[in-house]
Amino acid sequence: MDEKKKVIFSGIQPSGELTLGNYLGALKNWVKLQEEYDCYFCIVDLHAITVRQEPKVLRQKTLEVMALYIAAGIEPEKNTIFIQSHVSAHSEAAWLLNCYTYMGELGRMTQFKEKSKKYGDNIGAGLFDYPVLMASDILLYGADLVPVGSDQKQHLEITRDIAERFNNAYSPTFTVPEPYIAESGARVMDLQEPTKKMSKSGDNPNGNILILDPPEVIRKKINRAVTDSVGIVRFTDEQPGVKNLMTILRVLTGLSYEDMEKKYEGKGYAQFKKDVAEAIVEELLPIQDKVKIILADKKYLEEIYKKGAEKATYVSNKMLRKMQKKIGFIPV
Ligand code: TYM
Repeated sequence: MDEKKKVIFSGIQPSGELTLGNYLGALKNWVKLQEEYDCYFCIVDLHAITVRQEPKVLRQKTLEVMALYIAAGIEPEKNTIFIQSHVSAHSEAAWLLNCYTYMGELGRMTQFKEKSKKYGDNIGAGLFDYPVLMASDILLYGADLVPVGSDQKQHLEITRDIAERFNNAYSPTFTVPEPYIAESGARVMDLQEPTKKMSKSGDNPNGNILILDPPEVIRKKINRAVTDSVGIVRFTDEQPGVKNLMTILRVLTGLSYEDMEKKYEGKGYAQFKKDVAEAIVEELLPIQDKVKIILADKKYLEEIYKKGAEKATYVSNKMLRKMQKKIGFIPV
């Protein structure tokens, strides 16, 4: 029966601490989709080294992200959870696909343009090439669907272009994947600058909520979140701070925007903010408790990533061999 299931691939970088954005834009959706699909959830450490990482911290974060996947509800028995660097086909396929990708299209990637502004002259070639590695991740598994936040949409488009280009140059090889971008929560904004995406590496620590932030920190950050002087809870682009908090509340409680507007009518922002904070705490607290237990059991984690690497290696090597054959390499 499993064979008929469509395939999902997605991943998160173990760089820095995961945020509510990562959770609502990606992880929470993975949990929902896991029953219906054959899922590969990867900790993309090869992507993380496109900017310098402290080795000890990278090791810690890699296991922490993995523990977070499981604590958030990804079931290790039903899904393939693995660490990208354990599966060499990703790096090998990235080289091959590099030769089917144009400098021009990589140069147009918004994320590259933004990061290159930030890092100035010290931009590694890896940062430029990053989407090709991401395309390899996805295409090696024949993924049909890739659940991500909206910031990854452009990377999905280039993945589709690369897949189609290769298929046209030889013969149908890759599944051309579709992005899965949820209607709400696909772009959680910075709490201090609500026109910017909430990110792990935000300059202002009050701008993001980390999945592992203690409840009192979450309450404080939401309380300090930038709103406006309008004083009305309303879902409009003119009130980006309020709009962002409403989105968070909607994803966490299912309450519609209309009902929210009614509920807080004439009440200002205090109760609204309190409710947003409590909804976040209620969602994240059980995850935080579980993470601690999972992280303490390194043997358990090791079992999962070893099993994951085995399965992922088997599946991805099959596709890699297919690519090599089509290109014209002599098989061993
Ligand atoms: P990364 O590690 O930056 O983010 C992981 C996931 O979190 C989503 N996300 C957000 N969603 C909503 N609001 C936000 N503020 C927010 N910030 C981040 C991202 O869209 C992403 O889904 N290149 C990817 C990792 C990757 C990948 C892949 C993803 C590598 N290979 C293959 C899918 C398939 C990245 O840097 O994600």
